[in-house]
Amino acid sequence: MAEPIIRTEGLSKKFGPFTALNGIDLEVYKGEIHALLGDNGAGKSTLIKILSGVHQPTSGTIYVEGQPHAFKTPRDASQAGIGTVYQDLAVNPLMSVTRNFFMGRELTKGPAPFGLLRMEEMDQITHDEMVKIGIDISDPRQAVGTMSGGQRQTLAIARAIYFGAKVLILDEPTSALGQKQQLEVLKTMRRVRARGDIAIIFITHNEVHSMLVSDRFTFLALGEVIGKGTHEELHGTDIRHLMAGGVEMADLEQEIAAI
Ligand SMILES: Nc1ncnc2c1ncn2[C@@H]1O[C@H](COP(=O)(O)OP(=O)(O)OP(=O)(O)O)[C@@H](O)[C@H]1O
Ligand SMILES: [Mg+2]
Repeated sequence: MAEPIIRTEGLSKKFGPFTALNGIDLEVYKGEIHALLGDNGAGKSTLIKILSGVHQPTSGTIYVEGQPHAFKTPRDASQAGIGTVYQDLAVNPLMSVTRNFFMGRELTKGPAPFGLLRMEEMDQITHDEMVKIGIDISDPRQAVGTMSGGQRQTLAIARAIYFGAKVLILDEPTSALGQKQQLEVLKTMRRVRARGDIAIIFITHNEVHSMLVSDRFTFLALGEVIGKGTHEELHGTDIRHLMAGGVEMADLEQEIAAI
């Protein structure tokens, strides 16, 4: 088996006397979608905040492509190729798709900070990067506010990848969306997966969604790993009980498999 792109060893986090995470071993591989599952308070967000440099672990180590890393800031994690898409997405609905795509990393000509923006080039890149993951926005100068929630998620994902994310962390990307848009986001995730060079960590409360798209699973409860395995390894076991959505599954499975 290939080396994990991200691996944690014995990761623990205490908030004062409270142990939020206790000895977490996680292995995440490129070209895979890895579902991180667990009930409220299990420690999912704490774990990804450590992976994205927001919190520092109390003990334990993060390895990126085999090398130990200690992220002091989100910038450190980002430089190591870890891109996190939070639920609020940090998009400005009044600004254009292109300006949101580049946000703070605009292409300019002439000396900074007064360089002229290379708008046409940025529009082209935005358009092309969005098409790559399945959304053909005819006019990248349209305001983000005109896009659907699913398209905005896709914009945030395309942006993270374009700016170098090798590991994409998606915290509840489908939870605020309606049914149809949820499917859009799941499709986007499958297209990213199909590239083969990026790992996705998918946090969700929706077992149906996790089963539809994920290759590998880690279950957390009260700060500990209570189960893990690939789709095949877990097939027919307890998770089937967790997923009471069998009917919805059958329909969606076909659509996802078509990609
Ligand atoms: N900054 C903090 N200070 C103190 N306790 C915290 C802090 N952040 C999280 N916790 C506690 O750690 C535990 C795990 O929280 P966490 O947010 O990681 O859970 P989660 O799995 O993301 O839950 P949810 O599904 O509700 O998002 C909870 O008991 C929470 O109250
Ligand atoms: Mg959370």
